[in-house]
Amino acid sequence: MVPQVIDGLQVKPSCVYVDCTVGEGGHTNAILASCDAVRVLGIDPDAAALQIARDRLESHHDRIVLVQDWYTRITEIASGEGFSPADGVLLDLGVSSLQLNTASRGFSFSKPGPLDMRFDPNGDITAADLVNSTKVDELADIIYKYGEERRSRRIANAIASARPITKTDQLATVIARSVGRTKGRKAIHPATRTFQALRIAVNDELGNVADGLDQAIEILKPGGRLVVISYHSLEDRLVKQAFRAAASDCICSPETPVCACEHKPKVRIVNKRVIKPSQEEVMTNPRSRSAKIRIVERV
Ligand SMILES: C[S@@+](CC[C@H](N)C(=O)[O-])C[C@H]1O[C@@H](n2cnc3c(N)ncnc32)[C@H](O)[C@@H]1O
Repeated sequence: MVPQVIDGLQVKPSCVYVDCTVGEGGHTNAILASCDAVRVLGIDPDAAALQIARDRLESHHDRIVLVQDWYTRITEIASGEGFSPADGVLLDLGVSSLQLNTASRGFSFSKPGPLDMRFDPNGDITAADLVNSTKVDELADIIYKYGEERRSRRIANAIASARPITKTDQLATVIARSVGRTKGRKAIHPATRTFQALRIAVNDELGNVADGLDQAIEILKPGGRLVVISYHSLEDRLVKQAFRAAASDCICSPETPVCACEHKPKVRIVNKRVIKPSQEEVMTNPRSRSAKIRIVERV
């Protein structure tokens, strides 16, 4: 969704942008190419992705700073690197195609590999740790909460009985056997939701989103734009709630009879309806089919 992002950020010459999830640098490349003298700070915990971004953006090397870190440290990083206040911030959430397609990273149930799923391969907890050491009730909760999987308890029990599970294909088989094939035209693989849940838990993705959005708004200049691309309803709900709260002039609980919070809106919501990819984009990049863009502007 490159054109929508460039349009949403309103990229202008000589301005500074923070790409909080730079990945392989696709969006950053487009930002740099769209205007003269633009500078971009790119952040990602994935060293392999950053190396690809570095190579790809070589011709713009004097206009980029790439930092291997998490965007939950955006305030500190942006200020330390001279990118705060920023004219625009981008968050393209979740997992990249590179990560999904690299079997050794363990994100995909269709690619045999170690059960890993860490965005930062030096991170503390792998998916195998979670699968093999979490109590069955807790595992069921993770699968239910982060995968929105109705059959979470049955799946968690099957996993517990099959421990130790160390490979992606082994886990996919255990799940498929426990719940059987999903029928229907739009049927997804029975392991899809559990893999999503484990990935979210391993990387604390939802906690990071909530924290990162608040900081991203704070580092924007007045008139600066925050563009967020989310890929599933859990993420999009968080983005919607955070934007509503930041745009509101009252954050008192509904039971409070008279407003006492003196909350001042920090942003204006730019698009009341989410922006979705075009049909052509979905045809060329099927992963974009669930993408939703929300944009706010700092006041
Ligand atoms: C959808 S991809 C982004 C792709 C990128 N926009 C591009 O054009 O190549 C998401 C990226 O966000 C990174 N990521 C996930 N959580 C992060 C976090 N808390 N801080 C920084 N990056 C994160 C992942 O490692 C992944 O590379």
